[in-house]
Amino acid sequence: MRIPVHAGPREGYAVEIENGLLGGLAEIMRSVSPEGTRRVVLSSPRIWRLHGATVAAGLPSPDPILVPDGERAKQLTTVQRVYEALIRANADRTAQLVVVGGGVLGDLGGFAAATYLRGIAYVQVPTTLLAQVDSAIGGKVGVNHALGKNLIGAFHHPRLVVSDPLVLRTLSRREFRAGLYEVVKYAVIASRPLFDRLVEDLPQIVARQAAALLPVISECCRIKAEVVGADEREHGLRRILNFGHTAGHALEAVTKYRRFRHGEAVAYGMRVAAWLARARGALAPDAYDGLDELLTRLGPLPAVGDVSAAACLEAMRHDKKVLRGTLHFVLPVGIGRTAIVTDVTEPELATALRAIGLRL
Ligand SMILES: NC(=O)c1ccc[n+]([C@@H]2O[C@H](COP(=O)([O-])OP(=O)(O)OC[C@H]3O[C@@H](n4cnc5c(N)ncnc54)[C@H](O)[C@@H]3O)[C@@H](O)[C@H]2O)c1
Ligand SMILES: [Zn+2]
Repeated sequence: MRIPVHAGPREGYAVEIENGLLGGLAEIMRSVSPEGTRRVVLSSPRIWRLHGATVAAGLPSPDPILVPDGERAKQLTTVQRVYEALIRANADRTAQLVVVGGGVLGDLGGFAAATYLRGIAYVQVPTTLLAQVDSAIGGKVGVNHALGKNLIGAFHHPRLVVSDPLVLRTLSRREFRAGLYEVVKYAVIASRPLFDRLVEDLPQIVARQAAALLPVISECCRIKAEVVGADEREHGLRRILNFGHTAGHALEAVTKYRRFRHGEAVAYGMRVAAWLARARGALAPDAYDGLDELLTRLGPLPAVGDVSAAACLEAMRHDKKVLRGTLHFVLPVGIGRTAIVTDVTEPELATALRAIGLRL
C-alpha cells in the first residue's frame, strides 16, 4: 500500500506500508536513491539487536550508527554523536540517512539530517506503532531541551517512509498499546469506519495479526498525510491532531514524564475532551459511551487518583501562553468529527479532570 504525502510544491513523498518490507529496503528505496547513493543507517542497539540482521540483509551498507533511544536520549548530545559518525564516515551532501527506530530516533535522526551540511536526505523506517502512524509522517523533527520537550527542531520531510507492521511484533505490550491510543485518536477525529473497525477487530489487532493491523495503520497514515498535506506548517487544520493532547501533555508534565507512555496520557486526555464535549451537549451520550468503552477495552492505564487537577490546570495555563493567550481545545462532536473551541473555562476543565479521576 502506498500513501502519498503532499508537503509543499517540491516535497511530495510516499509512505509505503506492507508486511515484510524491512527485509527489502534497498529495493523499495530505489525510487528515491539513484544508483550508487551512499546510505548511512541510524538505529539503536536494542532495535538493531532485534531487527538489524533483517535490515542488513536487504540493504547492504556499512556498519550502522547506533545511538541510544528513549526520551532521555532525545537531546543534542546524541545528535552530536550522529554528526561525528557522519563526519568520520566522510558522508557528503548526497548521502542519505536511513533512520530505523521509534519516534525518538525518527525525530532525532531527522533533525541530524536537517542540519548536517545544511540538510541531507533521509528515509524513515519507523519501528513503533506510534512512529508508524504519527511521528514518521509530517516532517517535524527535533530534540528536547533540558527546559522542555521538543524545543529544538526543524521541518524536514523524509524522502520516503517505509512501514513494516511485522516489526511491531517485538514491541512490549505496553508500548504497542500506547500506540493504539493514537490510533483511537485518528478514528475519533476523522474516521468512523476506522472506529468501527477497531471495535470489531480489537482482539486481532491487539494480537498484532498482520491482516488486522495493515488496514488500521494505513488508515491512520492516510489521515495524517491528508491533514499534513492540507496544513504543512501547522497553522490550522493540523491542530485537530492535538485531540486528547492538551490534557494529555499536562498529565505527562505534572508526573514528570515518568508515569505514562505518551499514548496513555493521551487516552486520559481524550476522556477529558469527550467529557467536556458531552457536558456541553456537543457530543451525544452514545458516542461518548462508545469511546469510553473502546478505551476501557484497550486495558488498564496508570492510575491518576493521586494527580492534582489544580497542578494539571497550571500546566495547561503554561501551554496557553505558548498559544498566544488562548487555549485551543479539540472537542469531539461525533465519532469522526471534531470542533476546535477557545472558550473552555477553568472550572469546566477542573470538573472534567475530576470526572476522569484526578484529585482536587
Ligand atoms: N515528529 C512528530 O510529529 C511526532 C509525533 C508524535 C510523537 N513524536 C515523538 O515520538 C517520540 C516517542 O516515540 P516512541 O513512542 O516511538 O518512543 P521510542 O522511540 O523511545 O521507542 C520506545 C521504545 O521502544 C523500543 N523499540 C522501538 N522499536 C521497537 C521494536 N520494533 N521492538 C522492540 N522495541 C522497540 C525503543 O528502543 C524504545 O525503548 C517522542 O519523543 C515524541 O515527541 C514526534
Ligand atoms: Zn501524540
